[in-house]
Amino acid sequence: MAESETYPDHNPLRAFLPRTRVPDPCAVVLFGATGDLTHRKLAPALYRLALEGQLPSEYAIVGFARRDWSDDVFREELKKTLAKEGGPEFEKAWPQFAAHIAFSSGEFHELDAYKKLKVKLEELDVTHGTRGNYLFYLAVAPEFFGMIVDNLSAAGLIHPAHQDGPWSRVVIEKPFGHDLKSARALSRELAKSLDESQTYRIDHYLGKETVQNILALRFANAIYEPIWNRDHVESVQITVAEEVGMSGGRGAYYDTAGAIRDMVQNHMMQLLCLVAMEPPVNLSADAVRNEKVKVLQALPEWSPEDVARNTVMAQYTAGSIGGAEVPGYLQEKGVKPNSRTCPYVALRLTLDNWRWAGVPFYLRTGKRLPKRATEIAIQFRKPPTALFEAEAEQANLLVLRIQPNEGASLAFQAKIPGSRRRLQQVRMDFRYGTSFASPPPEAYERLLLDTMLGDPTLFTRTDEVDSAWRFITQIIDAWDASPTPPETYPAGSWGPEAADALLARDGAKWRRL
Ligand code: BG6
Repeated sequence: MAESETYPDHNPLRAFLPRTRVPDPCAVVLFGATGDLTHRKLAPALYRLALEGQLPSEYAIVGFARRDWSDDVFREELKKTLAKEGGPEFEKAWPQFAAHIAFSSGEFHELDAYKKLKVKLEELDVTHGTRGNYLFYLAVAPEFFGMIVDNLSAAGLIHPAHQDGPWSRVVIEKPFGHDLKSARALSRELAKSLDESQTYRIDHYLGKETVQNILALRFANAIYEPIWNRDHVESVQITVAEEVGMSGGRGAYYDTAGAIRDMVQNHMMQLLCLVAMEPPVNLSADAVRNEKVKVLQALPEWSPEDVARNTVMAQYTAGSIGGAEVPGYLQEKGVKPNSRTCPYVALRLTLDNWRWAGVPFYLRTGKRLPKRATEIAIQFRKPPTALFEAEAEQANLLVLRIQPNEGASLAFQAKIPGSRRRLQQVRMDFRYGTSFASPPPEAYERLLLDTMLGDPTLFTRTDEVDSAWRFITQIIDAWDASPTPPETYPAGSWGPEAADALLARDGAKWRRL
């Protein structure tokens, strides 16, 4: 039985049902325990899961990093981080959480460090009842993924998959390669020691409640599916806009990636999959992922000319955001002054399949846009005949707001009161904040819990990564070979004019959010 089928009652789409099972006792080993991700996301998520009683009563959190820290030093470091957001109950809750924390120091390349870790984990199996179940979270730079997994395996820390008894799972963070070739090399390297069912590739967008709700909206309601196709949908716009630039010293990393690798290859492809996929036969991990991968397989094959015609890449120039002056991309710390890396990408693509043939999907993402907003907008076709005055061209629009103001709205035409037959677009609006009492959990909480439960539905499978890179690599290759300089846009504006021209060809416009 696939691991994903072991816990069918933990599918996130049924998250509104009370969870009837908690994860097996286990040790969570954080590689990169002294780093940013551990402190910003992982430790807070584990702490909240513990507070909510969602962790098993027998668990351990083990930091692994180069620093020669003791268990106590690591505990104190985490305490400093968690105290900031721990709320009034922190002082009371901390000692109990702290009792589950341990540390093992070592270099990633030294097998002896993993043997030492094994001894520590075996001790914890006895003292904390973790029963040999290990979740290894690699919050480290991607060049260490292969080395760490090899060493875990050599030290006997990877249990065979598909067996009764203790389990091992490994979680990795993007980037999963920087093009198709390197992504395939990484997959091969991981596959030497790990079964697919033990490999959890995180895309934190899939942990967002609103992203999961795309499937609920589509497949738990019967009214949308009959019109969710080329006969009724005029176009689809997916926007991931960010105000931030290269803050937090990210410039040097970001300059090797750009929006195409940092956002489009992963998060935006996932949003595209969820909005365009066929209904899965059930909600098991493989059934959902089988349908997602078919969307990626339907992405077009583009010649360099097609890439030039259907994509716009741009860099921001100096401008102002929220009244503050900000530098241009090329002036950001860590960015090469002659860089061609682009923090803005717009794409027009079509999916070569029965449901969507001919329907344009417009995707855009950029840094230093006027506001942070992620949404998917489905524009439905206009009515076949115009009976009313000044009929709006774009009568029905369904907008799924991923963040902020999480929710969805459906626009339709209503008659303006009075003797004339005039219309106005009005909206039906659903807001998470008003419909549901509790705020949605942080993406990392959900994802960490799912890894402990062995539910890979919200994680990216090897073939998904491969198919997404196949499409993205042709864009990167054509862009790298092209003599065209990047387009530009002032920071704080909605992107370059060329992106408007991309849609104008179809008589369409980007939504102003
Ligand atoms: C990350 C990217 O994966 O997602 C960042 O590396 C980006 O560049 C971030 O800012 C956006 O995530 P969110 O959850 O703030 O939309």
